[in-house]
Amino acid sequence: MMTITARYLIAPLLVLSGLAVAASGAGNLGSLRGQMALDQDPAPARIEDPLKDQGIQDRVYIHQPPLIPHQVRDYEVDLKVNQCLSCHGWKNATERNAPRVSPTHYENRDGLTLSDISPRRYFCQQCHVPQTGAGLLVENTFMPVESLR
Ligand code: HEC
Ligand code: HEC
Repeated sequence: MMTITARYLIAPLLVLSGLAVAASGAGNLGSLRGQMALDQDPAPARIEDPLKDQGIQDRVYIHQPPLIPHQVRDYEVDLKVNQCLSCHGWKNATERNAPRVSPTHYENRDGLTLSDISPRRYFCQQCHVPQTGAGLLVENTFMPVESLR
């Protein structure tokens, strides 16, 4: 059992050390924005050594979003413009000689098929990634599923 004096001593110490942690943490929080104010945009980090024109890449599991086999630098995707769709949307794909997005990209979360790209598939690079010549960040033993090896 703790004596009364010890309890009175320890409680304020805990409060003080908590304050110290909060104060020292605030200055050096690591984030991609650094110390930049919220109404300013930091210069986007450049992807080193992007690989271009590698041709369609093998998939390694069945519902894998295919890898992007070309550079994507400066392809705009925002509220008004989606440059990916200017080649991959159903309207232009044949003319642009690009693979069309599959019908799943027109399905909303209730499984209904829309006549235009589904909002949940609008930001392509949430799922599709281009490739770079960088080394592995983390060693791993990942293997494609048996049927695709
Ligand atoms: C100028 C036209 C053009 C634009 C813009 C474009 N792509 Fe492509 N994309 C292609 C072509 C052509 C291919 C097929 C490459 C091949 O056959 O070697 C391709 C291939 C792909 C593939 C591989 C599909 C598969 O079945 O493996 C993905 C994924 C992809 N693009 C995503 C994107 C995304 C995401 C964007 C926007 C950031 C984008 N593309 C912008 C023309 C384009
Ligand atoms: C939520 C994840 C997600 C988003 C966002 C998304 N895709 Fe996909 N995409 C997939 C998956 C998963 C597949 C493979 C299975 C399928 O077709 O649904 C795929 C397949 C594709 C294919 C190959 C189609 C085929 O028939 O082989 C292309 C091309 C493609 N996506 C382009 C795009 C473009 C362009 C955008 C943005 C407009 C986009 N995707 C947004 C997940 C996504």
